[in-house]
Amino acid sequence: MKPFCEAILMHEKGTGTIGQIDGEKLIGKEKDKMSKDVMIVTGAGQISMAIARRVGAGKKIVMGDKNLENAKAIAETMNNAGFDVEPVGMDLSSRESILGLIAKAQEYGEIKMMVNGAGVSPSQAPIEAILKVDLYGTAVLLEEVGKVIAEGGAGITISSQSGWRMPQLTPEEDRALATAPTEELLGLELLQPENIRDTLHAYQLAKRCNEKRVMAQSVEWGKRGARLNDIAPGIIVTPLAVDEFNGPRGDFYKNMFAKCPAGRPGTADEVADVAEYLMSDRAAFMTGSTILLDGGATASYYYGPLQPEK
Ligand SMILES: NC(=O)c1ccc[n+]([C@@H]2O[C@H](COP(=O)([O-])OP(=O)(O)OC[C@H]3O[C@@H](n4cnc5c(N)ncnc54)[C@H](O)[C@@H]3O)[C@@H](O)[C@H]2O)c1
Repeated sequence: MKPFCEAILMHEKGTGTIGQIDGEKLIGKEKDKMSKDVMIVTGAGQISMAIARRVGAGKKIVMGDKNLENAKAIAETMNNAGFDVEPVGMDLSSRESILGLIAKAQEYGEIKMMVNGAGVSPSQAPIEAILKVDLYGTAVLLEEVGKVIAEGGAGITISSQSGWRMPQLTPEEDRALATAPTEELLGLELLQPENIRDTLHAYQLAKRCNEKRVMAQSVEWGKRGARLNDIAPGIIVTPLAVDEFNGPRGDFYKNMFAKCPAGRPGTADEVADVAEYLMSDRAAFMTGSTILLDGGATASYYYGPLQPEK
């Protein structure tokens, strides 16, 4: 006997009959069972692509990027490798645009997975843009996807080791970053221009906020039976990191990976290794967490050769 899905395909094409299947109603039901899980991805960059390739086989992947050409290029690469990726233009710094991406994904079914790999780095953008995209945009995305994520769903956002280098904030500041209503975030005292030294400081604050937001939002996601986690990578070779190597802090970054215990920068596929675990059922007890994945650079920054001079 033919396998069930093959039989249905033959029936749809009019090339066969469905022997033991009783009527169109059952066919519709069985077809639903075969419908794809939907994965929403922001940022058509190297980290997003590596994760999408690792966990996205057989899923409908809706991939948004401010630069539609980036999304189209990744979609072409992945679709030529057997994935099902739809590129979409979207801007993480806009709630309206995030809602548009979510609506597009929902055309294919309930959203089961989310990967947030969109972002700008300290050498790529001014303070205001870093806060708007990396901090505010991420907070809105976690909130809006958290309202619709499917039961059993899982999400990942990408913060950075940078958030671990900044001195501790006060408990009140941490709480505000975690729980302030999204539309009030950019009005917080610690995020005002006079309190931000430079783009690196803005990036550190944004990435610290990502971690706090993941903690608070994981509680909301949990109410829907879904999980939300975060990966804080060190230097991962991608176009974003190459901009940093060629930017004003290039020597600082090269020194960082030379003197970290791993002695090299990481790859997007190593981030995908951790993401694969976090998004799998094996991580069912894990939510609201941030995993630091930096070749030991943070350890060396506090207790090894990367310690800043006093
Ligand atoms: N590469 C690293 O060393 C490193 C280290 C730590 C954290 N990260 C973080 O990882 C994430 C992914 O970075 P990557 O290294 O894969 O970079 P990448 O440059 O390969 O991809 C980032 C993508 O985000 C898109 N993007 C930028 N602004 C956007 C916006 N407003 N809306 C939608 N898309 C937007 C860019 O067009 C780009 O395609 C970022 O949040 C970054 O801060 C990267």
